[in-house]
Amino acid sequence: MCGIIGYTGKEDAVPIIVEGLKKLEYRGYDSSGIAVYGKNGFDVVKQKGRLSVLEDRLKDRMRENKPLCGNLGIGHTRWATHGEPSDINSHPHVGSKNKIAVVHNGIIENYKQLKERLENYGVPFASQTDSEVIAQLAEHYYCGDIIDAVIKVSNAVEGSYALGVMCIDERDTLIAVKKDNPLIIGICDHGNFIASDVPAVLKHTNRVYYLNDKEIAVLREGSVQFFNMDREPLQKNIETIKWSMDSAEKGGYPHFMLKEIMEQPRVLRDTIQSVIMEGENKNVLDNISVSCFNKIIITACGSAYNAGVTAKYVFEKLCRISVEVELASEFRYRDAIIDNKTLVILVSQSGETADTIAAMREAKSKGASTLSIVNVIGSTIAKEADYCLFTAAGPEIAVATTKAFSAQLVLLYILAIRFALRLKILSHNEERELLAQIATLPDKVSALLDKTGSIQMYASTCVGYKSIFFIGRNIDYAIALEGSLKLKEISYIHSEAYAGGELKHGTISLVEENTLVVALSNCSYLYGKIMSNAEQVISRGAKVLLIGSCSDAASAHDSEKLYHISLPHVHEMFSPSLSVIVLQLFSYYVAANKGLDIDKPRNLAKSVTVE
Ligand code: F6R
Repeated sequence: MCGIIGYTGKEDAVPIIVEGLKKLEYRGYDSSGIAVYGKNGFDVVKQKGRLSVLEDRLKDRMRENKPLCGNLGIGHTRWATHGEPSDINSHPHVGSKNKIAVVHNGIIENYKQLKERLENYGVPFASQTDSEVIAQLAEHYYCGDIIDAVIKVSNAVEGSYALGVMCIDERDTLIAVKKDNPLIIGICDHGNFIASDVPAVLKHTNRVYYLNDKEIAVLREGSVQFFNMDREPLQKNIETIKWSMDSAEKGGYPHFMLKEIMEQPRVLRDTIQSVIMEGENKNVLDNISVSCFNKIIITACGSAYNAGVTAKYVFEKLCRISVEVELASEFRYRDAIIDNKTLVILVSQSGETADTIAAMREAKSKGASTLSIVNVIGSTIAKEADYCLFTAAGPEIAVATTKAFSAQLVLLYILAIRFALRLKILSHNEERELLAQIATLPDKVSALLDKTGSIQMYASTCVGYKSIFFIGRNIDYAIALEGSLKLKEISYIHSEAYAGGELKHGTISLVEENTLVVALSNCSYLYGKIMSNAEQVISRGAKVLLIGSCSDAASAHDSEKLYHISLPHVHEMFSPSLSVIVLQLFSYYVAANKGLDIDKPRNLAKSVTVE
């Protein structure tokens, strides 16, 4: 959470930083701020609220004939952890001697002790943040050498950080350092950048370095140097990012979320291709051996966890191997029973989710093999897991995941099929048949996306609900979890997902006149069961939105009470890839009808790099 950016070069840093912050706003939007060098020290503009508030303030400065400008600057967009969202708690933070300014993404765990020590030396603190301690500590250590001060700060603080640092005495130098939070260094003809994520610099360059933990980058207009904590120079490889600039723009859609939903046929095609064409994904799939594992654990957070729950049904059905799925935040503290015969699969769009990183490290420390499914190349989970499969979703900007989730599902299906083949449970013919089914998904998703009218119409009638329930059985239950999460996070309508059979064990007491229940029906052998659940709630006054390929009895019901959205037929195991499209669109249109800020739901941030 929080996004940082910095620039040094020939151009005015301020518009570049503002543009970059727009691409990072998905990481937090409680406040934002920018610092450049002014005539007498730092010139800082920072404001509580969305980036647009900061932009207004910058326009005021122009009108007042005091524009914020300079060739070197740092910027920040905040997701508040320590200290409420306020102007004073916004970044950049400047030390009390006005020598050092800092932007920080992460959490300083020992900030209270450090703050106390500094206060004992008489250092006055202005904010309630943990981050201010970095600026104050850097000034405390600073004796004319900013690199030295940054190294000392890195050694003193505990926790996670990605930092951009400016020093008033070294006006041509921008320093960056990180631990457990992402930071890239971008280079281009007119200058050099630091940023939390690639989209922030994509307009200017696709050439980046990924900073590793405890590496320092020293940026000047025409140069970038890297050092370790002993100040020894480091040689790093530059990477060329394949994402196009368009991928970080809305491209005419009202929201990134809708654009990203619509991109899914392409994303599925590219992800499927990535395991067929020569390249990293194919190598991993060809080389990973499954016979040495007697247990698979899938661990992740949020939607990525839901992808894991869905995949469990596929793995267990195809591979007859026991699969546990666990929330990473629980797994990391559970002392799980794992050993070198366990494969732990980490699923993460960002590759930076703190709990998933911790789960991965825990699994590795116990000798398990780790395989990650990640969207962001160069991210911590991608780098640290023993094996990594990349989803070809491109940058996902909307906070609510859509296309990355779909890509995760498809990679998990293919992984399960490959394992089943290796375990000799599937024949080559059966493998080919299943892969052929998967290959039909992009076109089927495309067909669904061509006809959004009925979903849009139905969603427009749902804005008034206080609560919506999702039910399903078997793999439909897994995807019901995702439907429910999607709805609540962007529409703010309370929602729960239940296994259909569980309704009568308590949940049904919540059903009353006009409650909406979304029922998934793709498992043909359970169709009768889910329909009887639908009847149970209808007879208690509920309305049912039935989504699925199984539907013959749908017309037998009162159409006032039951509305059916039909899905194309595909193998039941892969039906979540179609259901989820309708569920995403449903959530999107409900939220759109409520006029909500869909891409940036309240209190959320896309990349959850804190616990
Ligand atoms: C929901 C959503 C979150 C993420 C979760 C994990 O729409 O996006 O629940 O799925 O925060 O994030 P990653 O996949 O980056 O580890």
